[in-house]
Amino acid sequence: MDVKGKNVIYSGGFGGIGLACVREFLKHGAKYVTIFDLEENDEAMLALRKSYPNATIDFIPVDMRKKASITMAFKSAVEKMEHFDVLVNGCAIMMDSQVELTIEINLLGLIHSTLAALPYMDKSSGGHGGVIVNISSVAGLETPGLFAIYTASKHGVTAFTRCMGDQIYYDRFGVSFITICPGLTETSLTKDLHSRVTFQFNEEVAKIFLHSKQQSAELCAENMIKVIEIGKNGGVYLLDLGNIQEITYPQLWEPTFEAH
Ligand SMILES: NC(=O)c1ccc[n+]([C@@H]2O[C@H](COP(=O)([O-])OP(=O)(O)OC[C@H]3O[C@@H](n4cnc5c(N)ncnc54)[C@H](O)[C@@H]3O)[C@@H](O)[C@H]2O)c1
Repeated sequence: MDVKGKNVIYSGGFGGIGLACVREFLKHGAKYVTIFDLEENDEAMLALRKSYPNATIDFIPVDMRKKASITMAFKSAVEKMEHFDVLVNGCAIMMDSQVELTIEINLLGLIHSTLAALPYMDKSSGGHGGVIVNISSVAGLETPGLFAIYTASKHGVTAFTRCMGDQIYYDRFGVSFITICPGLTETSLTKDLHSRVTFQFNEEVAKIFLHSKQQSAELCAENMIKVIEIGKNGGVYLLDLGNIQEITYPQLWEPTFEAH
């Protein structure tokens, strides 16, 4: 999808990757961008509006832990923007000591956000269709044992988004689904990565990550827009150290049917 002239909702738009992506959407000519996040970042908002005076840029507060807050946010967004073509679900925390919170924000919040968005986009009931981009992680592809809870939440995101990319949904809703899996990226999420482990006794071992190579949020954002432009429904894309790689999966099982 060419994002020029499009209406975008970016959930988590004031985060490290989020803000870089919002800028990238605007740079590519998005017409209207609504940022969902916990709190408004006045300084960032001012800078965005100054740099992109021809676009409309809004903020709506949302708490991804609360289904009612998510529902309300979409209602308010559509009242203002009339329709949206792109939704990016990019809110997450990485704090394995907080099991419920991690699953609530990273997985349940993303699922509720997707389900709340669909009726507005649904082509079969007068919507414009579009694309929903769910941000997973390399931890939604591999199994880094030090971060078992975050990893479980991100595998959930990858699986949910791949399921939603099934042709049966595309035929009905006209909405395509893309999973983005960033590699390590310089944001507040990766600061003190060692303190985010599942078991405290692994904090020392996890310090190895403090020396790992990380891509900039800007590079991740540039590639995310490229993927939105060329990505296919159901596609899973690894964005690591400035490279884009489409992930392919083997079929591990299929149902066996009784003969009639
Ligand atoms: N930084 C990395 O190395 C990396 C790697 C892989 C995947 N990711 C994923 O990329 C996405 C963005 O991460 P980031 O690195 O920019 O992190 P970040 O912490 O900078 O941004 C996360 C955003 O989510 C928002 N958020 C958190 N809890 C919320 C809640 N309850 N309700 C609403 N908003 C909430 C925060 O306010 C923030 O704006 C996340 O999904 C993350 O899992 C990041």
